[in-house]
Amino acid sequence: MPLNILVTQKIPDSAYPLLEKVGTVDANMEEGRIWSADELLQKAPGHEYILSLVTDTMDAQLLEACTPHLKLVANMAVGYNNIDVATAKRLGIVVTNTPGVLTETTADLAFGLLLATARRLGEAERYLRAGKFTGWGPLLLCGTDVHDATLGIVGAGRIGKAMARRARGFDMKLLYYNRHRLPLEEEQQYALTYAPLPKLLQQADFVSIHAPYTQETHHLIGSRELALMKPEAMLINTARGPLVDEKTLVLALQKGTIAAAGLDVFEREPVVEPALLTMENVVLLPHIASASVKTRTRMATMASENIVAHSTGQPPPNSVAG
Ligand code: DGY
Repeated sequence: MPLNILVTQKIPDSAYPLLEKVGTVDANMEEGRIWSADELLQKAPGHEYILSLVTDTMDAQLLEACTPHLKLVANMAVGYNNIDVATAKRLGIVVTNTPGVLTETTADLAFGLLLATARRLGEAERYLRAGKFTGWGPLLLCGTDVHDATLGIVGAGRIGKAMARRARGFDMKLLYYNRHRLPLEEEQQYALTYAPLPKLLQQADFVSIHAPYTQETHHLIGSRELALMKPEAMLINTARGPLVDEKTLVLALQKGTIAAAGLDVFEREPVVEPALLTMENVVLLPHIASASVKTRTRMATMASENIVAHSTGQPPPNSVAG
């Protein structure tokens, strides 16, 4: 019996031949078209393998509807909060992700977003394109220095550490908060000083979030945390939207509790709090931290290789559950 593989969005071309070697590929080939929850529920049952994206909510209802055929969900992302992993485990469905391959690309974007927020790049570009640039001005679009500032890294996993390496090139002082403190050698290697979250928030000029999103980290940054930050501090989030209470963030930005924010992720993606769209002191990106051609190709290959491995009786290399 041929195996049926569902690919829920158009992915880099090089991945399809890998999948076609082990099964029949049923793929959404319409670029940019995201299936709704109902469409997914209609299309997914009957497939042994699903290559999913962060836009697919693989909840208990969907996973149960895919039982008993579904063997593995290969999420083309390092984060897998879109998948009900506990239910997958209970149903014997393996879940895999794509760790490692997107670390540097994501950290590049996170640091770029920090720079863009500090130096008001979005605002400056809008200003110029609007024809407002009439000449150099001593007070024109002055921003905040990044060099020598203190960066607070929330979540010191692979991406958090890659962010630390970039920040050191700008002579930043580095604080970090992590659920588990890093071994001393790693703290020294990355010049990271551990601080409990409240202390980090009080001391950092920039706070950059790199934690996974789980039930425990929901609204990790809420009104209490924002109130601890310095009025001139800036918040950068390239991890997951619901790590930050977005409505509270809007209030904090409006009241001047903090100075600015750089956001690549949103609490109710693709919906963005309308007030954020009107603010000059926020830089907003459409969840593109891992979006380089090379990295997205590697992610698609890695997700496909997990399917190939499982379908040929090998343990999938990037299993997070099952
Ligand atoms: C991830 O990998 O978790 C990203 O958010 C999608 O690139």
